[in-house]
Amino acid sequence: MSVETIASQPFQDQKPGTSGLRKKVKVFEKPHYLENFVQSIFDTQDGYQNAPLVVGGDGRYYNRQAIQKILRIAAANGCGRVLLGQGGIFSTPAVSHMIRKHNACGGIILSASHNPGGPDEDFGIKFNTPNGGPAAEKVTEAIYTATLHINRYRVLDTPDIDLDQIGTTQVGDMQVEIVDSVRDYADLMEQLFDFERIRALFQSGFRMRFDAMHAVTGPYAREILEQRLGAPAGTVVNGVPLEDFGHGHPDPNLVYAKELADHLFGPDAPDFGAASDGDGDRNMVLGRHFFVTPSDSLAVILANADLAPGYRSRVTGVARSMPTSQAADRVAAKLGLNCYETPTGWKFFGNLLDAGKITLCGEESFGTGSDHVREKDGLWAVLFWLNILAERRQSVAEIVREHWRSYGRNYYTRHDYEAVDSTAANGLIDALRAACATLPGQPLGSYTVDYADDFRYLDPIDDSVSEKQGIRIGFKDGSRIVYRLSGTGTEGATLRIYIEAYEADPAKHDLDTQQALAELIGIADSLAGIRKRTGRNEPTVIT
Ligand code: G1P
Ligand code: ZN
Repeated sequence: MSVETIASQPFQDQKPGTSGLRKKVKVFEKPHYLENFVQSIFDTQDGYQNAPLVVGGDGRYYNRQAIQKILRIAAANGCGRVLLGQGGIFSTPAVSHMIRKHNACGGIILSASHNPGGPDEDFGIKFNTPNGGPAAEKVTEAIYTATLHINRYRVLDTPDIDLDQIGTTQVGDMQVEIVDSVRDYADLMEQLFDFERIRALFQSGFRMRFDAMHAVTGPYAREILEQRLGAPAGTVVNGVPLEDFGHGHPDPNLVYAKELADHLFGPDAPDFGAASDGDGDRNMVLGRHFFVTPSDSLAVILANADLAPGYRSRVTGVARSMPTSQAADRVAAKLGLNCYETPTGWKFFGNLLDAGKITLCGEESFGTGSDHVREKDGLWAVLFWLNILAERRQSVAEIVREHWRSYGRNYYTRHDYEAVDSTAANGLIDALRAACATLPGQPLGSYTVDYADDFRYLDPIDDSVSEKQGIRIGFKDGSRIVYRLSGTGTEGATLRIYIEAYEADPAKHDLDTQQALAELIGIADSLAGIRKRTGRNEPTVIT
């Protein structure tokens, strides 16, 4: 068994996006591609000689091959110990928890989140730092710079190991400890929420369906919901993780989790429905015949946080990504809590969580979380809802409607145009940016522009600045249109348009969202010249 140094050449396209490096599997399969990126992590990071490195992925196609490669490179670079989920599986929030619990030097997560999996689909790799969160921009920049200069990587010449057997294996001088992927995470959930109350809820006949979408949360949901909380067998559907997610698109929204949505809006709907994505960090929650927007979900969780034992009397504040609706802001204002607006991407919450400025955070993109880990956490959000439902014994719809009556309703929608020509998409954003200077004060339909800018974030903890985070057009009545380009897509550009309007009057809280926002949607289209510039007549996905 010897360390080999393999000569290599840089790839120009290894800049991590919103959430790590995401490419087609075919790209990752190119000789040296994955190796270069992993070696660049070891070349720029520290601590792996003495503290464990956590490794795991969402089980998608290429997960196992990638893990064997990573183990060989880690061993060759002097990594002392790896904590690996059984079968190479860990949900993203579980990795975050393992890093924190075991004082690890960091973690490598293999996932392309909600993107489809399979030989012709997507794969991804992401590095998380010792706080358990996605690496901050200065770290991802350092890794990227290393990929641009790399000329060799190190690899231990050793056979594949058995990834499925719990226990300790040696890879050269490195110890690989294969652990139960679920247990530690489930224990953490038990500390945060009132499992006894939730158990009583299920005993009272409360019915739920959790759709794991053939992705990583199946085993987690079965253990927590069906074993520890006593929900009937069959509560978790599509619970066996598959390499291609059963040909599905493991993104929990009304479009891709249609089977679940149809069930919750159907004749024999259960009381509660939920789904999670490929790597378990996203969530969608539904009541009987009722969809909760992720922005509202964050606001409701914030307003009810005292009902969960792990959060009682200790919430300091909330943060939301810039395009997320301002529903949570209203709760924070009423409760006298801190409230922050950050750029899109979970990494921007890390500093605020570490500094104790916030306890809860969320994004409109079906992401909700707290300081229990440093990733968004799908099952955590579902359990938070269960805890609220167990205490309040009202329906999901009643809880949300009551919330709107207290705080007003932020109507909200996101329109995505996927796989748009990149030049056209950049041109569209550039033109909007140029228009920002002259928009304020202008009437657009029945609205008047209050401000228009390209969002710039000054991190209040480390003073770092992130520019060009999305075009915001705010109107005098608090309504907003936001435009930004996705940083996670793997094909062309994805244009996202976020539209929000506030309605205080309870008599107007039951409108259809697209109708309630129709005028703003029209303004958003014409202002950006979407049809003309992209050739598209309608969005690919509306959430
Ligand atoms: C998308 C979401 C963003 C989320 C990210 C990772 O990024 O919009 O909120 O943090 O996925 O799950 P985008 O493709 O918009 O850059
Ligand atoms: Zn995800």
